[in-house]
Amino acid sequence: MAKPNIYQQVDVQCISEKYPIYIGNHLLSDHTLLQRYVAGSQVLIVTNKTIAPLYLDNVKQAFAGIQCNDLILPDGEAYKNQQSLTTIYDTLVNHHHHRDTTLIALGGGVIGDITGFAAATYQRGVAFIQLPTTILAQVDASVGGKTAINHPQGKNIIGSFHQPQAVLIDLQTLTTLPTREFRAGLAEIIKYALLVGGDFLNLLNTVLADGFTVKTPQLGDLIAQCCRIKANFVQVDEREETGERALLNLGHTFAHALEAITNYKRWLHGEAVAIGLYCAALLSYQLGHIQKSTLELVNSLLSAAKLPRRIPKDIDLSGLQALMFNDKKIKNKMLRFVLIKAPGNCYLDASVTTDCLHHVLKSAVEGETNEC
Ligand code: NAD
Ligand code: GLY
Repeated sequence: MAKPNIYQQVDVQCISEKYPIYIGNHLLSDHTLLQRYVAGSQVLIVTNKTIAPLYLDNVKQAFAGIQCNDLILPDGEAYKNQQSLTTIYDTLVNHHHHRDTTLIALGGGVIGDITGFAAATYQRGVAFIQLPTTILAQVDASVGGKTAINHPQGKNIIGSFHQPQAVLIDLQTLTTLPTREFRAGLAEIIKYALLVGGDFLNLLNTVLADGFTVKTPQLGDLIAQCCRIKANFVQVDEREETGERALLNLGHTFAHALEAITNYKRWLHGEAVAIGLYCAALLSYQLGHIQKSTLELVNSLLSAAKLPRRIPKDIDLSGLQALMFNDKKIKNKMLRFVLIKAPGNCYLDASVTTDCLHHVLKSAVEGETNEC
């Protein structure tokens, strides 16, 4: 068996707790590392039917000496719901898990979010560990303690902040990830590049131009840099109260509505984020904050990652706009958008009118003007 090796460590220092993110190879086989973050004598590994045959046995071996239960959920965003959450609670209750149990999320962002929310609420909060297996979950969903399930009318609107004990990013897991999923994860990396600009944007631009794949030599470094960028936002505004963390939602007001209007079935989350990033850039452009060249940069980054940018013609724009009003950034009934002034300079804007929003949605539709 290949030897586990930790390539980088990023620490997340929140107000009440500090936890490590380890980035490396074969970390799911590192029994000592996995055991280090389990304080009691019970664990429940939550995963899904796609990931279980690939990685569950490996992780279970680390807990051969203690009570180790597992739960294999159906696969998909549509199952990030109340019913799956109840199944997790039922499993914990039926196997007599106590307050010192540890939940282990083995999978992508869907498994991480739902397991984290179960951990946040079971017996008023128990420990959990994130073992993210998609690039999207490795750079974003597993870091920062946002946990949630979806409501049919809105994405992630039932949830809680609950930080994990540790995040173990095993780069090896990306070798089994389908190409479409890999590309979807690049949308969140592009989001970080727009938020921080500078060297990170330049590096990503180069890597995307060369064709960013799981074999890209800078993969581990880029993932570690994303974790560091996210940690910096989370550390200053853990509960999204002062506005800094809300910037991580660049493109997401559009994306969440696009996902909800298509019943979470048409796009992968990252694909919806890609269209959302384009819409946010277009809105910034139409408001006069950015030059056409910046809109073109956003378009070319997304295009190099082979991600969608435009809203398909069959989407009902009025329905889409209505769903945007379920967004969690609403304050005093006003939608707040993350807008771009320049790469590395994004801000929250509460003054976008419904007319302006309607106009941007119309011009983001496939085949409309403002085409890049
Ligand atoms: P996902 O969890 O649905 O995983 C994508 C697909 O890849 C699934 O079919 C999964 O079974 C499969 N898969 C996962 N790992 C695999 C592997 N190593 N090999 C083969 N197949 C594998 O989707 P995602 O893109 O990881 O996450 C999206 C979710 O994350 C959304 O629900 C989104 O809201 C959430 N999210 C949360 C945060 C947060 O801060 N909590 C941030 C971003 C996204
Ligand atoms: N994905 C946005 C956040 O974690 O705040």
